[in-house]
Amino acid sequence: MFDRHVFLVGMPGSGKSSLGKKVAANLHVPYQDMDKRIQDIMGKTVVDIFAEYGEKTFRTAETNLLIQITREAPSLISTGGGSAMNPENVKIMKAYGLIILIDRPLDQILSDIKLDRRPTFAEKGLEEVERVYHERYATYHAVADITLDNSEGYYHGVEELEKILRLRFGLYTL
Ligand code: S3P
Repeated sequence: MFDRHVFLVGMPGSGKSSLGKKVAANLHVPYQDMDKRIQDIMGKTVVDIFAEYGEKTFRTAETNLLIQITREAPSLISTGGGSAMNPENVKIMKAYGLIILIDRPLDQILSDIKLDRRPTFAEKGLEEVERVYHERYATYHAVADITLDNSEGYYHGVEELEKILRLRFGLYTL
């Protein structure tokens, strides 16, 4: 069991959710996905929240959810790609957990990212993914306590994340 939260940050399409879900199951630790929780709380998809209320409302919901998470038992958390861009969110994540950047090369992200479920990119397409990647790159790296190089595929990423967490939290047995 963790003694603090673990926040996975990084670009949409970097592997935060796929790695997080699998590794949490392997290590028997609780897992949550912030986008999913916001969808459950608001009863709408992220796409509909953006369309009906605007991005600002979604960003406020993200910060409110992070505050709520600080009151809960430690878990492995996939954040939405924009969460780490807000210094207030970073302050909360640093105070209550460990921030791990899932760092995947841009060309790999572009090769398989699904745009339709991602309102910040849905209209503008892959060029916007590329622009945002460059815009956010330095911040992601600056806020991360640990950076996981997710350039060698899913299974390697799972192994690496497990290794980091086992070392950090002393989880040597299943
Ligand atoms: C966003 C990323 C999404 C979601 C929202 C905004 C972003 O999460 O929170 O569409 O600004 O990068 P994923 O990183 O899971 O795609």
